[in-house]
Amino acid sequence: MLKVTQQPDVISFGGGLPAPELFPTREIGQASVEVMEEYGAAALQYGVTEGIPEMRTWVAERLSTRLHKLFDPAEILIVNGSQQGLDLIGKIFLDPGDHVVLENPSYLGAIQAFDAYQARYLTVETDEDGIVPASLERVLEHADPFPKFLYSVPNFQNPTGRTLAADRREAIVRICERFELPIVEDDPYGELRFEGEELPSLASLATSGCVIYSGTGSKIMAPGLRVAWLAIPDHEVREKIALAKQGTDLQTGSLAQYVFHRYASKRDAFEAHVDRIIETYAQRRDVMLQTLEATMPAGVRWNRPQGGMFLWASVDGVDTIELLKLCAAQKVVFVPGVSFFPARDVHDGMRLNFSNASEEKIQEGIARLAAAVRASKN
Ligand SMILES: Cc1ncc(COP(=O)(O)O)c(C=O)c1O
Repeated sequence: MLKVTQQPDVISFGGGLPAPELFPTREIGQASVEVMEEYGAAALQYGVTEGIPEMRTWVAERLSTRLHKLFDPAEILIVNGSQQGLDLIGKIFLDPGDHVVLENPSYLGAIQAFDAYQARYLTVETDEDGIVPASLERVLEHADPFPKFLYSVPNFQNPTGRTLAADRREAIVRICERFELPIVEDDPYGELRFEGEELPSLASLATSGCVIYSGTGSKIMAPGLRVAWLAIPDHEVREKIALAKQGTDLQTGSLAQYVFHRYASKRDAFEAHVDRIIETYAQRRDVMLQTLEATMPAGVRWNRPQGGMFLWASVDGVDTIELLKLCAAQKVVFVPGVSFFPARDVHDGMRLNFSNASEEKIQEGIARLAAAVRASKN
């Protein structure tokens, strides 16, 4: 797929890439100059493993406002992309053969991170409103060995774009607290809400400190900076994760943290930037939905995510790996859904990214996809 995607006339709905034309390149350049002028060598020196104090304070304040729960900077660990956070969580929680509870389907990068520690997976039923609480309860009642944690992406999930319903959030946190099961709440897309009400985070609903919350600058600033964060209320878990990070990379790059912090602290400019991302992605989603509606034959279904970067489509009776081959010939690509199911047992789904291509490309690409679906049904 990568080989096909690199050809210039290929339209890709496959990657999970933000729109590069929205990266604040000039602002980050300016922030870099200011950091050098103000901090100089300190921004190029080693720093503490947990992250520079300015970043940890910024994250604690932003999360406290967004999630309506007070976060202390001491709870925050700056990581090298939230992908590193997932790896470190795997490193301290998982021994070979341990169970992790996953949404079905789930984020492929998390599966890859936990695979490295030879995890096994217990999947819970999910529908358009996310995890079905009764299914989680059933899985936990029968789990042997008992899982180490639940991994969930409650907002605009990768790969489905689904959001966990408000009443289910409460139910899921209560079930996990009753079973003393930690939750890893991965929330890279929460800030990219186009419409609808903000829903309470799992972290804010927990009374026992059982939730590790993961956030990132990748979707609101730029993934190349690799600045992301974990909020870990439990002191012992936090220390273990910090020690594991020390063994991995000592610290997240000082310069990237200073630059991130400098730009993010220009509050009006930064908020306007995030608003621009939201507005652009919302329009792209709408164009994708309208074009799907106008071009797809019967037997194709898709959802309407309220934010994020992906939507999920299914093609009745079609193996989307086979469909991808036809699509590659038509110069359009997507990710076949089977990769996101740990049991690799659902074959008719596909993840469509709407953040990266322009509106024109989305129209053209979906029309090509529709032609390929028609061809696959003949
Ligand atoms: C659910 C989820 N978690 C984590 C990541 C990794 O993000 P980061 O760039 O912060 O490593 C992604 C990236 O697409 C994602 O979709």
